Amino acid sequence: MAHLKLLGPFTQLLPMNGLPKKGALHDAQLPVLQNAGIVIQGAHIKDMGPFNALKEKYPQAHLDFLEGPHTGLPGLVDPHTHICFGGSRAKDYALRNAGKSYLDIAKAGGGIWDTVTQTRMAPEAALVKSTCSLAKRHLRNGTTTLEVKSGYGLSVREELKMLRAIQSANQQLPMDLVPTCLAAHMHPKDHKGSPADYLEEMSRELLPLVKKEHLAQRVDAFIEESAFSPAQIAPYFKKAKELGFALTVHADQFTAGGSQVAVELGALSADHLEASGPREIDLLAQSNTVAMALPGASLGLGCAFAPARKLLDAGACLAIGSDHNPGSAPMGDLLTQAAVLGAFEKLTNAEVLAGITVRAAAALNLTDRGQLGQGMLADLILFHTADHRDILYHQGNLKPCVVYKRGERVYDKHRQKNH
Ligand code: NIG
Ligand code: FE
Repeated sequence: MAHLKLLGPFTQLLPMNGLPKKGALHDAQLPVLQNAGIVIQGAHIKDMGPFNALKEKYPQAHLDFLEGPHTGLPGLVDPHTHICFGGSRAKDYALRNAGKSYLDIAKAGGGIWDTVTQTRMAPEAALVKSTCSLAKRHLRNGTTTLEVKSGYGLSVREELKMLRAIQSANQQLPMDLVPTCLAAHMHPKDHKGSPADYLEEMSRELLPLVKKEHLAQRVDAFIEESAFSPAQIAPYFKKAKELGFALTVHADQFTAGGSQVAVELGALSADHLEASGPREIDLLAQSNTVAMALPGASLGLGCAFAPARKLLDAGACLAIGSDHNPGSAPMGDLLTQAAVLGAFEKLTNAEVLAGITVRAAAALNLTDRGQLGQGMLADLILFHTADHRDILYHQGNLKPCVVYKRGERVYDKHRQKNH
C-alpha cells in the first residue's frame, strides 16, 4: 500500500464539487471548507475534511504541514491550446495593431499558414523541447492538465510529426497533455485538390494512423469562411466518429455556423463563440456540448469576448481555455485571461473557477479531475492567501505557490530546483 500523506491545514479549500453541470452559478453555491486537510495515497485523494479530524484518523500519515495562510483549488485544466509550433508571429501582432485584420494578414501569407511553414521546418525533437518549455510555464501557473492540438502540419507526415512530438512531451512532463488532431485547421496552400479532397485524404490516410499509434482520441476542425464550411466538415466528422474519435470544434469565431455542427454531431465542446448570436446560444444551452470561451484570442486580436454571461444565463456549460497559440493568442496565461473575462462579462467567482476546473474537465470528458474529493486525482494548487476571492481579484498576478500533480509536489515557489 502506497504511504499516506496528510496535507494541510488549508485556511480555505475549494473542492469545486457538487456544482450543477450547466448554467449560472452563484458564489453562495461554491463549497468553501475552512481549516481543511487532504489525505493523499499515491496519485489519488483518499480523504478530505477537517484537518484535525484527519490527523486523528490517519496517525500514520506523513504530515505535509502548511505554515501560514493557504487556499487550495483543484489543479487547473486548460482545455484548448496550440502550444506545439515552430517560429513566432510577432510580425502579425504588430501588423494587426497597426490596423490590418487577422483575415487580411492570413490572405497576405501570414496567419496560420506562416506557422505551418515554420513548424514543418522544425525537427520533431525541437518541437518536443519547445512544447515542454511552454507546458512547464503553464504548470507553474497552476495548470495540471493541458490540451494540445496539432494543426500546423497539415499533411499526413507533418501532422504525425506534431502528434508524436506532443506524445513525447507528455512522457517527459509531470503534467498531463491531452492531444487533439487538428488536421482540419485550414486547407493547406500546397494541397493540389479541393478542401473536400483534402479532408477525405486526411480521414482515409491520417486518422487511422493516429488511432493505431494512440496519438490522439480527439479530432478538431476550424469551421469558418477562411477555413472549412459546415458542409465540408460534416463528412469528415462522421468518419472521425466512426473511427471512435471524440469531436470538438473551432466554432463561431468570426462568423456563426460551427456551433450548430458541434451540437448536431454531439461534439464535446464548441470553442471560441465570439460571433455566437441568440440562436447559437440557445442551441448550445439546450445541448450537452460544452461552450468554451477563449478570452486569450479576444485579447490577442483585440476583439469582443464570447457572450459568456448570456451562455450561462441560457443554461450552457461554460468552460474557459487559453487558446495559447503563436497567432491569435500568444499570451498563454489561463488564470489572467479567465479573471479578465469575468470582469468584462460579469461572471461570478464560482462561474470562472468552475470554467477552468470542473467544467473544463467536462469539455475534455475527464471525470477524475477538476474537482477534489475521494477517488479524484490528487491534482491541486495552493495560493498564499486566506481568502479565495484574492485569486481572481489579482487577475492572475497572484500565482500558485505550490502545485501537486498526481500526489507529487511538482512545483514549489520556494524551492530552488523545479520542473
Ligand atoms: O484558435 N482559429 C483558429 N485557430 C487558432 C489560431 C491559430 C493561429 O492563428 O495560428 C485559434 O485562434
Ligand atoms: Fe484554437
